[in-house]
Amino acid sequence: NKVILAYSGGVDTSVCIPYLKEEWGVQDVITLAADLGQGEELGPIQKKALDSGALESLVENGQESFVVDYAFPAIRANALYENRYPLATALARPLIAKMLVEAAEKYGADAVAHGCTGKGNDQVRFDVSIAALNPSIKVLAPAREWGMSREETIAYGEKFGIPTPVKKSSPFSIDRNLLGRSIEAGPLEDPMTEPPEEIFVMTKAIAETPNEPEYVEIGFEKGTPVTLNGNALGPVELITQLNEIVGNHGVGRIDMIENRVVGIKSREIYESPALLVLIQAHRDLESLTLTADVTQYKRNIEESYANLIYQGLWYSPLKGALDAFINQTQERVSGVVRVKLFKGNAMIVGRRSENSIYAPSLATYTSEDTFDHKAAEGFIYIWGLPTRVWSEKMRG
Ligand code: ARG
Ligand code: SIN
Repeated sequence: NKVILAYSGGVDTSVCIPYLKEEWGVQDVITLAADLGQGEELGPIQKKALDSGALESLVENGQESFVVDYAFPAIRANALYENRYPLATALARPLIAKMLVEAAEKYGADAVAHGCTGKGNDQVRFDVSIAALNPSIKVLAPAREWGMSREETIAYGEKFGIPTPVKKSSPFSIDRNLLGRSIEAGPLEDPMTEPPEEIFVMTKAIAETPNEPEYVEIGFEKGTPVTLNGNALGPVELITQLNEIVGNHGVGRIDMIENRVVGIKSREIYESPALLVLIQAHRDLESLTLTADVTQYKRNIEESYANLIYQGLWYSPLKGALDAFINQTQERVSGVVRVKLFKGNAMIVGRRSENSIYAPSLATYTSEDTFDHKAAEGFIYIWGLPTRVWSEKMRG
């Protein structure tokens, strides 16, 4: 009879409030807006929730935890879904789920609710995360069941004093947080249509980026980014500043057709400047500090890790097991990576580490060379032996 509703301030989640009360007989709706750095004022959102009939409207700042407990592990894992999407939206869901469950426990609610539709990934992430954290809490998803079109939703809201979106709202569906923006729907549903420039806010158009390259040095400590250009920064500050620097050079856009959990292919536009460059830089530092076999083995782990984030399995035994492997590998991944930003490109142009296992005396072609060239002959004889035997057999 008391429900905690994940609240964004948009029409759909606002309509959830009267809908839960009128259609499903919920007595008290408490809204929870998570501040994950979406760069919106949450004050008006609070008022909006109360105007829409919420008993209470909670706003919680989760930015620090979002970066430390969700983004940083994903960076250590070089997590890119289908090799491209750095999972900015997907990473926010388990944290919001955790906030919902904690609020439910605190306020004695027996259910939590969200405004996700039945076609998306977000519903999967919420429902599974909530079940993992507290299986006795019910999850209500009105938008999955009400079957109202956008127009009907707005009309329904008007009956309960929920204002129609002012600017005959944008055709795009946008999710935004500190780590990035996800943009879909409207004209983007045609995979051949180029994304219009106005959908981007974190990254500049190439035509407007500086005509001089900019260098940024990112320092990592055990796989976690800790400095920018030599300055130690807190996690939220580091991401905020790097978003600014990288986005200014038009770096960080992605346009892809992706495979959703529910089997649908969908056209997604992302901008995620800091996160993408951090993964690129981190992976480079690993190439300097990890042995070949660990690096190669980790690639498979990384793909599994990205998949489980995308598929809503953040709170799962697999996640814990993969974390154990990844964290072990990160013990020596400390150092600095130098990135050159220019006209939509981020190029790694230098790296150094106290734990570097790059051996100059082995790599060099100068007289400093200490590699035993003659040893190569015996190695190649044995290495190529199976191939030689096979070839002789084939030739009869
Ligand atoms: N396809 C992306 C993902 O699954 C973005 C989802 C965007 N969500 C939204 N409610 N607009 O992570
Ligand atoms: C939604 O269904 O709410 C948005 C799309 C998604 O979750 O992928």
